[in-house]
Amino acid sequence: MADAMTVAELDRLAGGPSVMTIDHLHSGYGRMEILHDFSLRLPKAKALCLVGPNGAGKSTVLNAIYGFANLFSGSIAVNGSDITKLPSSAMLKTMRLAYVLQRDSVFPDMTVEENLYMGGYLLDRPAEARQAAEGVLDRYPALKARRHERARVLSGGERRLLEISRALIMDPDMLLIDEPSIGLEPRAIDMIFASLRELRDVHGKTLILVEQNARKGLEFADIGYVLVAGRLVKAGDGKVLLADPDMGRLFLGG
Ligand SMILES: Nc1ncnc2c1ncn2[C@@H]1O[C@H](COP(=O)(O)OP(=O)(O)OP(=O)(O)O)[C@@H](O)[C@H]1O
Ligand SMILES: [Mg+2]
Repeated sequence: MADAMTVAELDRLAGGPSVMTIDHLHSGYGRMEILHDFSLRLPKAKALCLVGPNGAGKSTVLNAIYGFANLFSGSIAVNGSDITKLPSSAMLKTMRLAYVLQRDSVFPDMTVEENLYMGGYLLDRPAEARQAAEGVLDRYPALKARRHERARVLSGGERRLLEISRALIMDPDMLLIDEPSIGLEPRAIDMIFASLRELRDVHGKTLILVEQNARKGLEFADIGYVLVAGRLVKAGDGKVLLADPDMGRLFLGG
């Protein structure tokens, strides 16, 4: 694989002003450094997909952005303002940045609509969350049809859609989504990616995804980053990366 990407190359790939800017980040857990000199550039209404082997540090990038990992050095900025000192609640409310976790975070014994209301826990008045939930339900008929049912009865794809929809209650500008297609059957994966495409192309949301399914993730993404052992080893247009023979050897089984 090529040498680590320079920031100038990441700027060129972004092709415009970035809404998310990470510079020379060193981050990890406890005293252990997981990410080594990681930088990122992402313009508005574009999708960036992080791919790489298990344990490469993909989730740690999202954790670092959201304040869930330790920062040893480097900077993370949204629209030019440093966010590294902010509490996680400010990420959502002030920086308009939502995080959909890798692990299942649906409340199975709550109804679909109650799960959505939970997405508004930072709002001052419960009525605001209810109103936002109606807007979200109107966009997703599969969830609306089951709004009074317990979330445990949903299919895997519907649960993932519910997690993404819950993040929309606060109307974020940017979503961090860890493994949107994890554990889903092909039809559900297509449904989830269609929803992500609509969020980006119709609603202008900026997306940072992590995908184990590198082919799906890179087909969808405007920008792909390949992380290996905590370092960015390659970055490129999603479709260009997919055609890269190194990628085939590493991730795509060919
Ligand atoms: N909360 C944590 N505390 C300590 N170490 C952690 C924590 N979370 C992750 N790690 C370690 O950090 C490294 C990177 O993990 P990370 O979850 O970022 O990888 P990943 O690329 O998302 O992998 P996967 O594809 O398995 O989700 C791993 O060695 C992991 O064991
Ligand atoms: Mg992960």
